Amino acid sequence: MSSPKKAADSPKIPIRIMHIKNSVIIVTGASAGIGRATAVALAQSGATVVVTARREERLQALAKETAGSDGRIYPFPGNIQDETFCHQLVAETVERYGRLDVLINNAGLGHKSRIAEMPAADIRTIFDTNVMGLLYTIQAAVPQMKKQGGGQIINVSSIIGQRPIPNGGIYTASKTAVNFISRTLRMELRPYNIKVTLVYPGRTQTEFGDALLGQKGANPAAFGRTSPDKVAQVIVKAIRYGRTEVYVTPTDWLFAHVNRLFPRTTDGLTNFVFTRYLEGKSGKIGHDT
Ligand SMILES: NC(=O)c1ccc[n+]([C@@H]2O[C@H](COP(=O)([O-])OP(=O)(O)OC[C@H]3O[C@@H](n4cnc5c(N)ncnc54)[C@H](OP(=O)(O)O)[C@@H]3O)[C@@H](O)[C@H]2O)c1
Repeated sequence: MSSPKKAADSPKIPIRIMHIKNSVIIVTGASAGIGRATAVALAQSGATVVVTARREERLQALAKETAGSDGRIYPFPGNIQDETFCHQLVAETVERYGRLDVLINNAGLGHKSRIAEMPAADIRTIFDTNVMGLLYTIQAAVPQMKKQGGGQIINVSSIIGQRPIPNGGIYTASKTAVNFISRTLRMELRPYNIKVTLVYPGRTQTEFGDALLGQKGANPAAFGRTSPDKVAQVIVKAIRYGRTEVYVTPTDWLFAHVNRLFPRTTDGLTNFVFTRYLEGKSGKIGHDT
C-alpha cells in the first residue's frame, strides 16, 4: 500500500469524467440489440435519450418501459439512410432539449454472402446504412457541437472492421470505413473539443444475425457471445471517461492485436473458424433472394 506522502507526491493524471445525468444523447438503431441496451443504460443514468430506428412501435415501447428511470427517452423514428431525416433528428433534439452532448451512431446491418456474388442493391444498402447514415448524422451534429463548445461522437464499429472474415467482406469494408472516418474526425474536431470514440464489439447476442442480408438466419450461434448489456456498459464508460477506442472483451482486444502482428496466421485461423467450423454448423453460404 502506498503511504499518504507518496500518494500526495505522485503526478496527477487528468481524468475527464463526464456526468451523464442531464446530458442529451442521440442513439441510432435503438429498437434492438446494442442500441436498445445502451439507451436503457443511459436513461437509467439520468440522461435524456433521443432514440431512433425504423420500427416506431419498438421505440414507443422502450420509452414506456423506461418511464420510471432517472432520465427520459424520446422516440424519433426514421430511416438513417435518409439524409433529410438525419438532419431533422438533430434539429428536433436541439429544439426540444437545447443541446446535443453525445451522438451514438449504432444503427448497422450485416450480410452473409461472397463479394463476387453479392447483389449490388445489397452492397448499397450496407454502405447506405453503415457509412452514409453515420456520415449524415455526424454532418448534422457537428455544427451544433461546435456552437455549444464541445461534444462526443461514438461510432459503433466491429472487431471485424479490423480483420475481414469470409462471407462478410462488404460489412467489414463498411466498418473499416467507419474506423478511418472516425480517426480522421478525431483530428479534425479536436480543436472544437469534440471527442470521437470507436467501439469494437465482438459477437454479441442481438438480432443482427436475423437481419443479415443474403442468407437469412445464418449467423451461427456457436462461439461465446457477449450480451448487449455488456456492450452498453462499455459505451457508458466511454462517455464517462472520454475514451478513444474501446474493446468489449479481452479476447476481442487480443484478436485485433494478434491480427496486426501476424496477419497471415490470422488469415488461416479466421478462414478455418468462419468457413469450416462455423459454416459447418450453420449450412451453406449463398443468397436467399
Ligand atoms: N451483434 C454483433 O455481433 C455485432 C458485432 C460487432 C458490431 N456490431 C454492430 O453493432 C451495431 C448494432 O447492431 P446489433 O448487433 O445491436 O444489431 P440489431 O439487433 O440487428 O440492431 C440493429 C439496429 O439498427 C437499426 N437499423 C438498421 N437499419 C436501419 C436503418 N436503415 N435506419 C434506422 N435504423 C436502422 C435497427 O432498427 P430498425 O430495423 O427498427 O430500423 C436496429 O435498431 C451495428 O452497427 C453492428 O454493425 C454488432
